[in-house]
Amino acid sequence: MPRIAYVNGRYLPHRAAAVHVEDRGYQFADGVYEVCEVRAGRLIDQRRHMERLQRSLSELRIAMPMPLRALDVVLHEVVRRNAVRNGIVYLQITRGVAKRDHPFPPAGTRPALVVTASRIDPARTEAFATGGIAVITVPDNRWERVDIKSIALLPNVLAKQAAREQGAREAWFVAADGTVTEGASSNAWIVTADNEVVTRPADHSILRGITRTVLLDVLRAHDLTLVERSFTVAEAMAAREAFITSASQTVMPVVRIDGRAVGNGAPGLIATALRADFHRFAEES
Ligand code: PDD
Repeated sequence: MPRIAYVNGRYLPHRAAAVHVEDRGYQFADGVYEVCEVRAGRLIDQRRHMERLQRSLSELRIAMPMPLRALDVVLHEVVRRNAVRNGIVYLQITRGVAKRDHPFPPAGTRPALVVTASRIDPARTEAFATGGIAVITVPDNRWERVDIKSIALLPNVLAKQAAREQGAREAWFVAADGTVTEGASSNAWIVTADNEVVTRPADHSILRGITRTVLLDVLRAHDLTLVERSFTVAEAMAAREAFITSASQTVMPVVRIDGRAVGNGAPGLIATALRADFHRFAEES
């Protein structure tokens, strides 16, 4: 089955799916994106992803390219046309196509919308979860508004590549004060010796992950204590457990940080239980 992408009003075969050379996303990274998990053909937590999308757009003063109800149809149609049962749907909105100039383009320039869907083999993700993943740490050299899900991801790309080159699946960004902010494409968590589940408050220094938000409900249901505070790399290395959260991986145990084992070096019991229960608390559409 040929892959299909939605590009500015048309469903196109992947090889023909392209944006204009003067798309501001291409030239300035002037745009935002969202990634929703697809599970058994349904979108996971679409409502919350759309709320965050609207917030990112409004922070950057980019207009919604179409009403939410129409976007809902496009998202499901791209999933359907690609016959994705398990994987992700990706959407990107940029400030549109205009002659290259840094200030905003003329009023009335239409924002550009691209939607793609891709399959992820659940067995592969499960295998990573069973073994746990390694993370490395890198200095957080990003701008101060990473709460906006912008497509400007160069620091994240470089961090993730450094992780791959060191045999790790994720890189944790570390602020100047030694605290972990978040992963290159995930939020960071630890479990302390007292079984407190710790994650950084969702201020401007991290992206407020949708998986993170849903996990707060899972924690409550499991009677676990949540502490929203920052933690250092040293504290994470000495923690009982560590894990990351993101739409494509839900809860993924971390078993090594910069080559040092976390806990006994195996996925933690709490992380594993939260992973197993996550989708009971997520919305499907
Ligand atoms: N990444 N922090 C960053 C920097 C991210 O890029 C992501 C998501 C998250 C977790 O957010 P959520 O739980 O809503 O997926 C946190 C997506 C999956 C990506 O870039 O592919």
